[in-house]
Amino acid sequence: MTQPPIPAFNLTRQFAETLQTEVTAAVSEVLASGGYIGGPAVTSFEADFAKYHGTAHALGCNSGTDALYLAFRALEIGPGDEVITTPFSFIATAETIVAAGATPVFVDIDPATFNFDLDQVAAAISPRTKGIVPVHLFGQPVDMTRLMTIAEAGSKDIGQKIWVIEDCAQATGAQWNGRKVGSWGAIGCFSFYPTKNLGGCGDGGAMTFNAAEWVPELKMFREHGMRRRYYHDEIGLNSRLDAIQATVLKIKLRYLDQWNQARTAIANRYQTLLGDTDGIQLPQATPGSTPVWNQYSIRVGEGRSPELRDKLRSALQEDGIGTGLYYPLPLHLQPVFSNLGYQPGSLPQVEQVSSQVMALPMFPELEAAEQERIAERLKHHWAAFAVPQLQLT
Ligand SMILES: Cc1ncc(COP(=O)(O)O)c(C=O)c1O
Repeated sequence: MTQPPIPAFNLTRQFAETLQTEVTAAVSEVLASGGYIGGPAVTSFEADFAKYHGTAHALGCNSGTDALYLAFRALEIGPGDEVITTPFSFIATAETIVAAGATPVFVDIDPATFNFDLDQVAAAISPRTKGIVPVHLFGQPVDMTRLMTIAEAGSKDIGQKIWVIEDCAQATGAQWNGRKVGSWGAIGCFSFYPTKNLGGCGDGGAMTFNAAEWVPELKMFREHGMRRRYYHDEIGLNSRLDAIQATVLKIKLRYLDQWNQARTAIANRYQTLLGDTDGIQLPQATPGSTPVWNQYSIRVGEGRSPELRDKLRSALQEDGIGTGLYYPLPLHLQPVFSNLGYQPGSLPQVEQVSSQVMALPMFPELEAAEQERIAERLKHHWAAFAVPQLQLT
């Protein structure tokens, strides 16, 4: 008998098993109220989100992309400024730097964490550096203690403030040294895209921060550059979090820790099931970090043919097992950034890693029996593909 497929990601189980009654009732209330933009649903979620992060403020917006863009604008990062970031991320991280008028400076990654290499961040600071954007990729926190020290020392060296803007899109609830990501830098930027650890039923985003003076600035940029109704000081955005999304997110926030714990249990089970597979590198929590496993990206075929990864993914697909690929082409080699002057070979670690990673199914409701089947099929195909290859080399 053929087995039911196992998707890389699934939202229907969570809705059916946990949320349906509560969310449907709350959304119906909003629908009946007629208040769809702003209002108490939004401010109440913002208060909860700030409290969850231990920050003085949180403001909702339309997406994680907008959160980054709004943060750059409020911090006056723009033309002539450089922003150091990772080439191993979703395009939004760098796209928004350019949209704000600044220039991204990519540094290579640490293949052990997939996050940017902090020695290279320190070395990339120049008199034009105005920002650093750590991305807590796949839910794995960057070493924020060290990064904040690097940013402070760099600011002193160049005589200009270097802001740290955290891209927390994949890491809601993750902690570095017991403190939530998004509470370390000047502004934490979050995405509520449905596949994120805290996902809405559509697009959404938020910014967390402590400085009261940025409240009016961020609000102004998120509403058409307007401080006074219909008087516009800046070119801004229409970037509001809808009342329906805020209502859903407020409910889901209560479950976030429980879901992140379920993801951690799943990561631990993958470790048990696959930890002894030669030639497959599994992601690890580094000392000091509490990751939240937005993705579980393994690295296959280190030092061997990159085609093995694609063969393995296809074979699993034929078995009905979905996988993901984040990200096949690093940002510094994307056509849109060709003007920045990077070449193949400029950042060798990320170039190799991106040809070898694949993400296994990861969502809180993934069942142990499904993981066992994933591991069994993966090991079966890997033995067939990788061993002859090993003998040839
Ligand atoms: C690392 C990273 N940054 C930014 C974003 C942008 O978030 P959104 O899709 O909500 O605009 C994403 C979303 O995929 C992301 O993964």
